[in-house]
Amino acid sequence: MSLETSERVSKFTESVIRKMSVVAAKYGAINLSQGYPDNDPPKEILEALKKAAIAGPHQYAMTWGAKNFRDALAKKVSHFSGLEIDPDKNIVVTCGGTEAMMSAMMTALNPGDKVIVFSPFYENYGADAILSGAEPIFVPLHPPTFRFVKSELRHAFEQGARALVLCNPNNPTGRVFNLKELQIIANLAEEFDAFVITDEVYEHIVYEPHKHIYFASLPRMRERTIWCSSLSKTYSITGWRLGYVIAPERVINGAKKVHDFLTVGAAAPLQEAAVVGLNFNDDYYAELRDKYAHQRKIFLNELVEAKLKFYEPEGAYFVLVNIDEFLKDGGGRFNDDTEFCEWLAEKVGVAAVPGSSFFRENVKNFIRLHFAKSEETLRESGHRLRKIREVL
Ligand SMILES: Cc1ncc(COP(=O)(O)O)c(C=O)c1O
Repeated sequence: MSLETSERVSKFTESVIRKMSVVAAKYGAINLSQGYPDNDPPKEILEALKKAAIAGPHQYAMTWGAKNFRDALAKKVSHFSGLEIDPDKNIVVTCGGTEAMMSAMMTALNPGDKVIVFSPFYENYGADAILSGAEPIFVPLHPPTFRFVKSELRHAFEQGARALVLCNPNNPTGRVFNLKELQIIANLAEEFDAFVITDEVYEHIVYEPHKHIYFASLPRMRERTIWCSSLSKTYSITGWRLGYVIAPERVINGAKKVHDFLTVGAAAPLQEAAVVGLNFNDDYYAELRDKYAHQRKIFLNELVEAKLKFYEPEGAYFVLVNIDEFLKDGGGRFNDDTEFCEWLAEKVGVAAVPGSSFFRENVKNFIRLHFAKSEETLRESGHRLRKIREVL
């Protein structure tokens, strides 16, 4: 039999992040590669889940999201963004931010359309672009501060881009784009009449003095923003697969159809239970931010103690560590970040993601670690990382 799978699937590789989790398990290393919280979800949400297990709903929810979920979501999102959101006209509830982004791209882009993606980028965007038939144009976020150059961004728009993907707060760099940067993107999107597809799954994990600005809240941007986010990180429920797209009605009408035929809908009992979380007051989000700020402080201290160089994250829970000194070019023994990560997991007991999996450019001198772990685990990781040069 010579049945070949589609060309499409041959164009992207298996997730490097998830592959590193396998490497971590193989060597029994602390897994700082795949980033998800290691704490339980809030107990109120778990109580609500218990109730939903008995009382339901257990059948399909409305395809674009259960009414009570959309109502609570619209209220919460309006509160934080200052924008009016119509729960019936502006929202599609999806299976995680992952499906939100896929649905957004399939809704906005035709096969052959160009989409701007900043590099380094969250690996899904490459696959999403391929699956929707679009062609990414990569614009570098230049190390060590991971900022874009306006003329390079303009050049990408000049090539006829129909959309730009904006991950803010940014994975993997930890950047939180400031108003000036967002305004540059907004002006170019307006000038070239492009969509801005945002990924704001880390909207509530931002460190002082940085502030998250919802792109849709910029003047006139509401009309061209397809805003994707998720409950995964905000409520520590990455396994529940609840996300959403918010957009103007004409766009949402398209996204509703894409979503319906991709997945029908997000899990009904989980939507029911998560409503409790969407109704939390501001204290919850302040505590979440403080918790991650504390973990960040501990982990960055550990990295300093281990004499590692890194860019201090402004949001999300990732940190890019510079490994120049360990590479052959810098006088070390490793050819690249992948070789270094394999060694780090085996000999030091800490699993990281090779930075090259996020960069379009030939950049091999970063690894990504995450700090969504307990204080004890972070301290133990630091203890191990301090021994890197001894073990070498
Ligand atoms: C930037 C970014 N977007 C989306 C996701 C996926 O979110 P979800 O679990 O809601 O699919 C992640 C998960 O790590 C992420 O880092």
